[in-house]
Amino acid sequence: MSEQLKQEIRRRRTFAIISHPDAGKTTLTEKLLLYGGAIHLAGSIKSRKTQRHAVSDWMEIEKQRGISVTSSVLQFDYGGCRINILDTPGHQDFSEDTYRTLMAVDSAVMVLDAAKGVEAQTKKLFKVCKERRIPIFTFVNKLDRFGKAPIDLMDELENVLGIRSCPMNWPVGSDGRYRGVYDRQTKQVELFAADETHGQETRTSEKYVLDAPELKAALDEETYQALLDDIALLDEAGEAFDEEKIACGELTPMFFGSAMTNFGVQNFLEEYLRLAPPPAVRVSSDGDIQPEDERFSAFVFKIQANMNPAHRDRLAFIRIVSGKFERNMSVWHAASDKVVKLAQPQQFLAQDRQIIDEAWPGDIVGLFDPGVFGIGDTLSDESHKFKFADFPVFPPEKFARVQAKDTMKRKQFVKGVEQLTQEGAIQLFQQAGAGTESYIVGTVGTLQFDVLTYRLKSEYGVDIELVMQPFEVARWLTYPDGRMVTPESLRGADRGMFVYDREERPVLLVNNEWALGWITDNNPTLELHAVPPDRQEI
Ligand code: G4P
Repeated sequence: MSEQLKQEIRRRRTFAIISHPDAGKTTLTEKLLLYGGAIHLAGSIKSRKTQRHAVSDWMEIEKQRGISVTSSVLQFDYGGCRINILDTPGHQDFSEDTYRTLMAVDSAVMVLDAAKGVEAQTKKLFKVCKERRIPIFTFVNKLDRFGKAPIDLMDELENVLGIRSCPMNWPVGSDGRYRGVYDRQTKQVELFAADETHGQETRTSEKYVLDAPELKAALDEETYQALLDDIALLDEAGEAFDEEKIACGELTPMFFGSAMTNFGVQNFLEEYLRLAPPPAVRVSSDGDIQPEDERFSAFVFKIQANMNPAHRDRLAFIRIVSGKFERNMSVWHAASDKVVKLAQPQQFLAQDRQIIDEAWPGDIVGLFDPGVFGIGDTLSDESHKFKFADFPVFPPEKFARVQAKDTMKRKQFVKGVEQLTQEGAIQLFQQAGAGTESYIVGTVGTLQFDVLTYRLKSEYGVDIELVMQPFEVARWLTYPDGRMVTPESLRGADRGMFVYDREERPVLLVNNEWALGWITDNNPTLELHAVPPDRQEI
């Protein structure tokens, strides 16, 4: 095995930051970039108050809504490590896109707002990480202001998320008013200092050993004593640090800090890089694929079109699993059973792209996609043909009939709708017996319909007419003997809407579980599937 391959793998860390909107994911990401030297002044990208968007925001719609709807990839170096941060959309309606992003990482950082603790979206994202059994690191943010007691936050992690935590540092101060943090490893205290700039620049702050007179002078007697008591209690009764438990996602190292004022950020980054795993093996049709395998392999986890309005392009984001990636290399594309050339590979710092010549396991590369790639596709060395396990899929729950307002724009309409389907943002169906001018679009949340409307207008110049349908359940239909289910063979087909998916498989859309019960009772041999029968449900 090449020594270079081994070294490049060892120094890579590929992770996502997950949080409920507003907990501070964008701010923390920005501060990690600041400490990594990838940007020089935090806030120059997300300037406070005036401009609400960050480095990783791409689409206009994000700016309008102030939410992140696309996932982006940021790469930088720190302390000999090569770091790939995958940004995950924060809004709950985008869970499918987020889910796919989480398939491409080796660990996750969970940001909590110290005052709010575990919130709804944190729970959902956490669940996905837990299912994948990847290590999860917790950063409790906003310690510069009033927050919940650290012990209560630890209880919340255990009771709400079912994960035990091991504090790596500990807040100094009582009743949620914090003065600094105590590092349990170095046994030193870092005191917060006022910062009017929102931590635009990196900082090195004074650190004090526990019996330093400066520390005693800075804290009142009660706060100082409470800190000593807390430390003693943690050392005695706290969950022991256990690398094995961390590695399989059973225990989360917990850090306290404040992304905005930079407190605890550098320490967090360094500890994270020390403890987080390098690129992991992946399950495939040919057994586990080791990153150290010299034969190149990767999978597509995201497709994105028209990121740059200046070029009408489409990019497929791949995560490299094994071997070395080289520009212009030819690889086998499992889905089409063809050899494809990987031209114009790109890496990103938000809108800045650069063409790259090589990349290694753990890296994310954006490939120019002439329309051949799909989500979950495997790319591998021609001498080693296999497929990575399929991504699980979400059952669609919202449906609308969609057509172009202007029938003359039908061609652009079809192109736009096909594009969004390939990106995995929507699922497309055609009603049995209906004309081809309209589609039935299925999604996991209603926000996707706004995105559909907006993107068709801004990228394809098409105004659409969108009529929400009352259905909430989709079922793919099969008979055990392989016969095709048709509207005629199905009793009660008119109790819902009989449609076909992109691969012309029959699907019934109904209003609720009750309607589904009727169909099941009256079609004894029918088999119903919440997702296409060859796919696994999330
Ligand atoms: P998100 O990506 O998770 O949605 O959160 P984001 O970083 O955008 O942060 C949400 C808000 O919380 C922002 O305030 C941000 O400045 C603030 N924030 C982040 N970290 C800290 C922290 O450590 N302490 C305090 N006190 N606040 C923090 P905003 O008012 O919504 O935006 P802005 O005007 O500051 O840009």
